Amino acid sequence: MCGIVAYLGEREAQPILLEGLFRLEYRGYDSSGMAIINGKGLQSLKKKGRIQFLEEALQSAPLPGKIGISHTRWATHGGPSDENAHPHRDQSGKLALVHNGVIENYHSLRTRFLAQGHTFISETDTEVLAHLVGEHYQQIPSSDLNRLENALKAALKEVNGTYGVAVIHEDHPNLFVGARRGSPLVLAIGEKEHFLTSDVSAIISHTQKVVYLNDYDVVSVQNGQFSISSLTKPHAGYEITEVDLADAKAEMGAFPHFMLKEIFEQPQSILNAFRGRLDTEEYAAKLGGLNMTPQELLEIHRIKILGCGTALHSAMVGEYLIESLAQIPVETDFASEFRYRNCPMDRRTLVFVVSQSGETADTLAALREARRKGFRALGICNRVGSTIARESDGGVYMHAGPEIGVAATKSFTSQVMIFTLLALNLGRMRFLSASQGKEIIQAIEKIPSQVEQILKLSDSIKLIADKYKNYRSMLFLGRQYQKAVAMEGALKMKEISYIHAEAYPSAELKHGVIALIDEETPTVFLCPKDSVYEKNMSNLQEVKARKGKVIAIATEGDLEIAKFADDVIYVPATLEPLMPLLTVIPLQLLSYHTAVLLGRDVDKPRNLAKSVTVE
Ligand code: G6P
Repeated sequence: MCGIVAYLGEREAQPILLEGLFRLEYRGYDSSGMAIINGKGLQSLKKKGRIQFLEEALQSAPLPGKIGISHTRWATHGGPSDENAHPHRDQSGKLALVHNGVIENYHSLRTRFLAQGHTFISETDTEVLAHLVGEHYQQIPSSDLNRLENALKAALKEVNGTYGVAVIHEDHPNLFVGARRGSPLVLAIGEKEHFLTSDVSAIISHTQKVVYLNDYDVVSVQNGQFSISSLTKPHAGYEITEVDLADAKAEMGAFPHFMLKEIFEQPQSILNAFRGRLDTEEYAAKLGGLNMTPQELLEIHRIKILGCGTALHSAMVGEYLIESLAQIPVETDFASEFRYRNCPMDRRTLVFVVSQSGETADTLAALREARRKGFRALGICNRVGSTIARESDGGVYMHAGPEIGVAATKSFTSQVMIFTLLALNLGRMRFLSASQGKEIIQAIEKIPSQVEQILKLSDSIKLIADKYKNYRSMLFLGRQYQKAVAMEGALKMKEISYIHAEAYPSAELKHGVIALIDEETPTVFLCPKDSVYEKNMSNLQEVKARKGKVIAIATEGDLEIAKFADDVIYVPATLEPLMPLLTVIPLQLLSYHTAVLLGRDVDKPRNLAKSVTVE
C-alpha cells in the first residue's frame, strides 16, 4: 500500500525511479510523483492517476539529477489529486518527503502549524510530517553533520502512527534519509549507488544486495556510504541479504494480465509448495522451518490461524484440514479482530499468521500481539525477508514467486497446500495411519496435473462468464471444505468485477439468504462428489425451485448434476480435503473472465491495493 523508491548514485535518477514505480504500481495507483535535486535545486512533479500519466508529464518536463525520491499512492487522508500526491514539501520548500503509512496525530500537528502561519497545499497527513521534519531541521544548527537525519528522528518522536519515509533536502544534494515503523522499507546497495524502497521488486534489476530495515530503524545514505541507527535505542546491527531473483522479479510475459498469468502458474506454484517436503517413507511432511521438535508439536492443544482476505479463506480450509486429519481444535480469526480482542487462549495454543506479502498491517499486528502474550507464532508467507517472515518464530515459505495481481490467486492454493502438509504432519503424529498418509501424499502429487487439466477449460469458462456478466448480484454456496472456497470465489468476483457476491454454507441458505433468490440472482454451487454431496444436491434443488440459475462446480463423471444446473464446470476427482485446490480454479477463471468482459482493470481494481500496510 503506497510504494516508495529513492535513489542516490552516479546515474540519472528519473528513469530508475520511474521503472521502480511501475514495478510497485500494484501497491497503490491513484497518483504518483517524484522529486529530484539538480543544479536548479529541488524539483518535483506529481500526477493524479496511473504512473503512466507521470511518465507522460516527465517526457515534456524531465527531471534531471542523480538523487531523487518517488512515490505511488493509495489514498488514506485526502482523495486522489495532483496536490495530494507525494512528495510533499516542508514550509521552506527545500525539503521533500514521501511516506507510506498513516500519521494519526496529524490533525493536532496541522492545527499547530496553521497557528504558526504555515500553509498547506494538500489535505494529507504526509504534508504535515514534511513540515514537522522541516521545523526540526530549522532548529538544528547547520554545524550538525547529521542535521537532516536528526531532524527526521526528532520529528518521528512526535508522531503516532505508521511510516516508511524517505526524505531529501535541497541543501544536501548527496544525501537521503529514511525510516520505518510499521511500513516496509528496504535499503538496497549497488555499485556506487543506493536505493530505498518499499519492496525489493522495484530495484531488483539494479542490485540484489539489501538490508531489510526493522521498525524504528533510521537510514542515512551520504556520499556513497550508508549508516543505520535506531530511533529508540543503540542499534543492534544489520544484515546484508542477497535477494533471490526468482522471489522478486515479475514479468507478465505473453499474458494480458498478471492475474491470468498467476492463475496459470498454479501447477508450478502448487508443486513448489510441496516440492522436497513430502516424506514418502514415513508418509508425512517435512517442514523444518517450523523450528519445533516432534515433542513440541505433540504438545499442541489448539491452533489459532489469523489472516486477512484470501489468506483468511485459506486459513479456513486449513481449519477443516487440521481438525479432520489431526483432530486438533482450530480457530480462525480476522487478524484485524484478533489484535484488539481479549480472547482467552490455552497456553498450549500454536498461532499461525498467513500472509502472501508478509506485510499486511493487521496481520503483522496480530503476530506481534500473539508473541507479546507469549505464544509461539509461526508465519506462512510468500515474500522472503518480509516483516512477518522475519518476526515470526518460524514458519513455512510458499515459494510461489511474486504475486502482482491485486486479486490473490496462486497464493491461495499455495497456502492451502501448506495447510495440507501441516495437517498431514500433525495427523501422522496422532491418529492418521501410514496408509492414510500414503493416500494423501499420492493425491497431493497428482494435484499439479489436475490443475493443468482445469486450466484447459478457460475458454469454456469465458463463455459462461459472458452469459452471467450482466447480473448485478451473485451467490456462492458450498459446504464443509467448500464453504471457504465459496467465500474465496465471492471475494474474487467482488474484487475485480464489482458484481455484488455473497457466500454462505449451502445449508444456511434457508435461514435468510434464500430470500435473495430469483431469476436475477444466479448461484455458483460448489458441489463436488464429497461426503455432503447428497445434502448439497438438496440445497441446489431449493435454489432451482425458486427459479434461481445455477452454475455448478462438480466432479468429472457426475452426470446427475447436469440435469439440474444451468451450467456445469467439471473438475477431476481427488480426496475431499484436497478438493479446494481444484474447485477454486474455475472460480478464479470465472471472476477473471467476467471482469475482463466488463472492461474492468483486472490487475488494479478500484479502491484496492495488493499489500495493505495501513490499519
Ligand atoms: C489485500 C489484497 C487481498 C489479500 C489481502 C491479504 O486485501 O487485496 O488480495 O488477500 O490483502 O494480503 P496478504 O499479503 O496478507 O496475504
